[in-house]
Order: sequence, then C-alpha cells, then structure tokens
Amino acid sequence: MTPGKARVFSGIQPSGDLHLGNYLGAIQNWVELTDRYECIYSIVDLHAITIPYEPEALKQRVFDVAVGLFAAGLDPENCILFVQSAVPEHAQLEWLFNTVTPLGELSRMTQFKDKSERVEMISAGLLNYPILQAADILLYQATLVPVGEDQRQHLEFTREIARKWNTRFGEYFPEPQPMIGGGKKILGLDGASKMSKSQNNTIPMLGEPEEIWATVRTAVTDPARVRLDDPGDPDVCNVFSLHEFFTDPAEREEIAVRCRAATIGCVDCKRILADGISAKLAPIRERARELREHPDRVHEMLADGAVRARAIARTTLAEAYERMGLEPPADE
Ligand code: TRP
Repeated sequence: MTPGKARVFSGIQPSGDLHLGNYLGAIQNWVELTDRYECIYSIVDLHAITIPYEPEALKQRVFDVAVGLFAAGLDPENCILFVQSAVPEHAQLEWLFNTVTPLGELSRMTQFKDKSERVEMISAGLLNYPILQAADILLYQATLVPVGEDQRQHLEFTREIARKWNTRFGEYFPEPQPMIGGGKKILGLDGASKMSKSQNNTIPMLGEPEEIWATVRTAVTDPARVRLDDPGDPDVCNVFSLHEFFTDPAEREEIAVRCRAATIGCVDCKRILADGISAKLAPIRERARELREHPDRVHEMLADGAVRARAIARTTLAEAYERMGLEPPADE
C-alpha cells in the first residue's frame, strides 16, 4: 500500500454500452479519485453471470467497458483496472465469507428481491451476490468505496461481514466506508427514471454525433410545454438539467430566458445539447476508436492490472486462510 494514501475500490458491471449516466454518475468521479487515492477498479464479470447471459456477448461487453474506462481517462499508470475473473482470489474469499453469513440477511437484500422477481430461476449465485461484493472490497482491504445510493445496503452488509469475520478469527479486515454522491445522479431520456440500460433511456457515452442526436431528439422536456409558443419551465425540464454538464453558463442562462419566453423551441434546445455532448466527448470517442483498433493493447493493460491486483489479493487470502486454519496453496 502506498503510505499515506487511502485505498479505494469499486466495481462496474459489464452491462453493455456505457452511457452518460455511467460517465457523469461514476466514471468521471473514478478518474478524479485516482489523483488523491490508491485506486483499484474492477469490471465485475463474476457478478454479471448471476443472471442469464451469453458467454460470447459477455466477453464483448467486458472488452467494451474496458475500452470506455481507459478512453475516459483511467490511466494504468495511476490506478489498477482489471477484470474480476482474472483474479481467482475473489471467488475464494467469497467462499470463506459464505461461512460467516447468515442466510436470512441475504434474502432480505433489496437488490436481490428486485432481481429475483425478474429471473426464471433464482440461482444461489444471485443470492450470494453481496458476499462476492464484500470479497471484492475486503480482498484489497479498501477503506473507501465510491458507489451510487443503490449500493448503500451492500456496503453496510460488507461492513457486517468484516465485523463478523474479525470477531471470529481476529481483527484483520477494515470496515469500508461508502463514498456516495461523488458522481451525479442522471435521469434518462424519459426524464423520470435513472438513466440505465435496462430502462432503455440512455444517451451513449461513445456514440457518434448522429447517434447522440438520435437519442437526445427523443428526450422528454417540460411536459406542460406542448406547442412551440407555450412558455417552458427549465426548472422541471430534464434536457435543461443536462445542459449543466455540457453548455457554458452564459449560454445556459440565455436558453433558460428564451425557453420561458417561448422564443426557443425544444428541438433547438436539444440541438445545442447534443452538439455540446458530442464536442465534450469527442476526445474520449477518439481514444476509444484508437483502442478498438488495438485490442491487444487493451487486453495487455487489463492483464497487467490483474497481475498487480493479484499480488495484493494473494497476500490477503493467504492471511485469511491461515487464520481460518486452512491449508496454503499446494504449488507455493
Ligand atoms: N454491485 C455493484 C453495482 O451493481 C457492482 C460491484 C461489484 C461493486 N463489486 C463491487 C461496487 C465492489 C463497489 C465495490 O453497481
């Protein structure tokens, strides 16, 4: 551990195309944290397989998310980024934690209850998902975990596992703190629910300008503004709230004034937004294009990240095995 720098861990699901919600809500914050902390980030494919999936598609999604994260500015010189399944210690520590986790608490988790309603077969993996998440964090003895509000319960659960294990086998795992609110909560194109792949309401992070326009064009604005000469209310308009991230303050103010006076229509307002998004994300889009042309480089950076993560993971796991009275690996 770098002396004096607290360690951060977070995970992202490889759930298809990254969108503005991912970028403004998490990724941008992850990049900023690398300046101040020792950051370890993982693409959590072992979590992704707890619901039905296609193996080939999963591989592709992991690659796409890696490209997006590197392109958005995660620099392997400044942090560790790796694919969870490349570090087998995650699953091993999860097994150990299984044995200190009461069944009742797992079945009471909100996310489990939500997800289990949407699948045909509820696997033990889906139930144990939060134990694997605890293993992710504690394997690196991370003390800070940047996540969204929806992960608060999983973090509390992680702290409980650490406490239970420490009580039984001796003080070893620190209790991690969630860092909530580092990223912005971004609503989807419907202006109602959080931007998310499953809601089909996203603006792509790596989309070409035409794709960005095609999505922004469909965004819901102030519902009270039906006709062009109806005045609008920027304060209740989700398109206007997105301008905050992509349009400079003076132009934003002008848009607000003209919206209230009905001298700018929603289509023109959306045009400005789409252009702003395209311009701001242009360098990321360009880096992503370059990385996609060199897939070997992406795989190499991930493999290198996994090696560095694993060196830490091995030490933690060995200590946990030792304290639990288990045997060290046969080949070492
Ligand atoms: N469950 C998290 C999510 O859905 C992803 C995740 C897995 C994670 N392991 C983690 C987040 C460890 C933080 C720390 O967003």
